[in-house]
Amino acid sequence: MLAALLDFLREKHRTTPTWLKVLIPVLGVGSLGVVAVLGAVLAFIVTAWLGQPIPVLGFDQTIEQPIPFSHTIHAGTGVYENSLGDQVQGLGMDCTFCHRTVTTQANAGIPPVQFCAYCHQVIGKNESEPLTQIRMSAGIIGDNPQPINWKRVHRMPDHVRFVHEPHVRYLLDHPQAITGTSTGTNIGAASVCSTCHGDVASMKGTVTQVEPLKMGQCVNCHRDNNAPTDCASCHH
Ligand code: HEC
Ligand code: HEC
Ligand code: HEC
Ligand code: HEC
Ligand code: HEC
Repeated sequence: MLAALLDFLREKHRTTPTWLKVLIPVLGVGSLGVVAVLGAVLAFIVTAWLGQPIPVLGFDQTIEQPIPFSHTIHAGTGVYENSLGDQVQGLGMDCTFCHRTVTTQANAGIPPVQFCAYCHQVIGKNESEPLTQIRMSAGIIGDNPQPINWKRVHRMPDHVRFVHEPHVRYLLDHPQAITGTSTGTNIGAASVCSTCHGDVASMKGTVTQVEPLKMGQCVNCHRDNNAPTDCASCHH
């Protein structure tokens, strides 16, 4: 039985043309390569689709901001404690008051320090450490005005395109697609932000990212709301 098999193989080896003997391993290795590449691409897409970001890569990580700015006091409507231990009534400011381009452009926009200085030139005690920093940045005290370099919390990779304007517009027209709630002012555009950012008005200190905002979440919502799901809509 075994001898017959060996004979067969030997005969096959003798009759197989040399070019084929060379080509078989090449083809074998070549197709293995193709399979490996396809596998890697597939794994890449599957992780993009289902994967939760790894904490080390920026998600759910507390980012240290240059000034401890709290959304609570500005956007919230409760009573909060400032750095001096005073009880302060939340101002309930509209999100779009500071993030002025969120309804018209791709970026929401972060206000420059001069914007903060409109109020903080006079509002808030002199002893407040963070307000002293703001007044120095704005050139109200000292003679070395400097912009505040806020660190980004939400950041899409470079190959992804995200635009706020159509999302805010769509959610305003389809309030049933809004998720999450806000303890801040819930009028107009400010009522839709919780869908992707959670309850920012309740965030004391640094803003944290609460939604994964991975590809799977974007695509699922696009599919549910008849928005484009072709790769080129979201990728450069
Ligand atoms: C007084 C101005 C002001 C108001 C009002 C305000 N924000 Fe902000 N927001 C800021 C500043 C300054 C930052 C940058 C510092 C930081 O990330 O904490 C910021 C950061 C953010 C970020 C994180 C940006 C990033 O880097 O990813 C989000 C999200 C956000 N705001 C959403 C909101 C929402 C939602 C509201 C309304 C509930 C709101 N903001 C109201 C000033 C404001
Ligand atoms: C509409 C007016 C207004 C604007 C604009 C405004 N704030 Fe305020 N902010 C307040 C009020 C009112 C308080 C509470 C004052 C207090 O602590 O006594 C406050 C408190 C603060 C505090 C807390 C101070 C402490 O000692 O704990 C910080 C920090 C702060 N603001 C930063 C900012 C920054 C940064 C901006 C610009 C992105 C900004 N504010 C824009 C009104 C404003
Ligand atoms: C459909 C989801 C979604 C909604 C709704 C949404 N955002 Fe965002 N937001 C994002 C994503 C994603 C990023 C990161 C964008 C990037 O890196 O290009 C972001 C970034 C930001 C930033 C930081 C960078 C910037 O764009 O300047 C701020 C501030 C912000 N959003 C505020 C808001 C506010 C205020 C609202 C409500 C008016 C809102 N967002 C509604 C998904 C959303
Ligand atoms: C709440 C559901 C929802 C989520 C979450 C969402 N989108 Fe959208 N997106 C929409 C809808 C609906 C539209 C179409 C709006 C319109 O009618 O113009 C849209 C439009 C877009 C557009 C414009 C497409 C075009 O060419 O007109 C881009 C780009 C986009 N989304 C990217 C993203 C990315 C990236 C994410 C994830 C970070 C995301 N979206 C998350 C609902 C969502
Ligand atoms: C609705 C928006 C949207 C659409 C449509 C979309 N993507 Fe993405 N994609 C994203 C976002 C957001 C990220 C970045 C976050 C992440 O890694 O999940 C991403 C990341 C990726 C990555 C990188 C994954 C990684 O781990 O870094 C690949 C590869 C990818 N997408 C492929 C595709 C392909 C192929 C299609 C078409 C079938 C597609 N995407 C369609 C939003 C989208």
